[in-house]
Amino acid sequence: MKILIINGPNLNYLGKREPEIYGARTLEEINNKIKEYCSKKNIEVSFFQSNCEGKIIDKLYLADNEIDYIIINPGALSHTSIALYDAIKSIKTPVIEAHLSNIYNRAEEFRKKSITAAACIGVISGFNYYSYILAIEYALNAQSL
Ligand code: DQA
Repeated sequence: MKILIINGPNLNYLGKREPEIYGARTLEEINNKIKEYCSKKNIEVSFFQSNCEGKIIDKLYLADNEIDYIIINPGALSHTSIALYDAIKSIKTPVIEAHLSNIYNRAEEFRKKSITAAACIGVISGFNYYSYILAIEYALNAQSL
């Protein structure tokens, strides 16, 4: 099983960025937690982060057919990007959207709608780094559900 984790804009700044919302862990620390989990489950995991919409879209096309599941936290692109929605729709590899915070209980109205989520097979939101783990857990069990 091969899984790719993609993180979008501003997630490189985790740990420093609004820790009361996103927690105190850096992206590297979160990725280490994910690596630890994946090594126990025999999953080959890779990571990609970019602040650029186009680079994320390029990565999705590169990963298509090479990876079993993609887990993406598009950051604010979730709320704005039709281009990312189209790219997720275009590829065959199933994509799961994950958010650290619960986008439905955030103060800003604009966070309550994810454009990209509509192109994904499912969304997990609000469980901090465990949102990624829950998405991986689904990928692992999907065949036997
Ligand atoms: C986020 C939620 C988005 O609204 C925000 O723009 C982010 C992070 C999350 O993981 O909770 O950058 O995707």
